[in-house]
Amino acid sequence: MSLHSTSSLNAGVGLRLPHILEVATTRPAVSWLEIHPENFLANPHATELLVDLAREYPVSVHTVGISIGSARGIDRAHLARVRSLIDRLDPFLVSGHLAWSTHEGEYLNDLLPLPYDEETLDLLARHIDEVQGELARPYLVENPSCYVGFGASRMKETEFLAELVARTGCRLLCDVSNVHVSSINLDYDPYAYLDELPVDAVGEFHLGGFLVEADADDASAEVLIDTHSVPISDIALDLYDYALARFGPQPTLIEWDSDLPDFAALLAEATRADAVKRRVLYREKRYAAAG
Ligand SMILES: [Fe+2]
Repeated sequence: MSLHSTSSLNAGVGLRLPHILEVATTRPAVSWLEIHPENFLANPHATELLVDLAREYPVSVHTVGISIGSARGIDRAHLARVRSLIDRLDPFLVSGHLAWSTHEGEYLNDLLPLPYDEETLDLLARHIDEVQGELARPYLVENPSCYVGFGASRMKETEFLAELVARTGCRLLCDVSNVHVSSINLDYDPYAYLDELPVDAVGEFHLGGFLVEADADDASAEVLIDTHSVPISDIALDLYDYALARFGPQPTLIEWDSDLPDFAALLAEATRADAVKRRVLYREKRYAAAG
């Protein structure tokens, strides 16, 4: 898939196992699909359906089990399993989180954050080199949703990501909802965050729903929880508008992972995102015409 055709894609949706039979049977009008390889590696029947779908739909592979931040190193057996699936799907994007999710061989449900310092930078750059070497393609690193800052951090997340790009040639997956969630939880300006990311490095957007809960430590404060269980908020779509204007129309994914609705509801969310993209492209065209 060429870069031109990638940027002209409408929003895609995450394909989760409860929807795979429906999608395989009905072939809905969706621009592209993103999968978590970890859902398919132990499910040969679902994998065969997915390989068949990949002949018709562009597919992106979003790993949640390659712990590029693990001090114990990458799980090479897992990476080899992901590579064997990638070889069959030929995805147009492969991505993962700026986080670690394994500890002493156990896979943890939550993606755990990292301190942003030189030591972590060296570790992640080595691991990203290893992943990109094994997969023989660029890896997109996603900004996390954060709930507490690390006291040990010596640089901003945006500086850390920019340095990873410079050292490894990786690209960035900008999860716009994560930027909003973290900006509220850690009290920073989400628009300034987007301004600080290297403009040519962003190759994908995510949009996911979050919940607002009372802060257990401060009854007057709220904490946003990145649950991927509800529709995209309007405030995240406003930030998405800004991200599109800055980074251009990169492939955009609707993420919905728990309290999964009908597949049609995911398509409706994709339509909302596409409306924002049309508005931004029209506005940019008018600005360009006005000189
Ligand atoms: Fe995401």
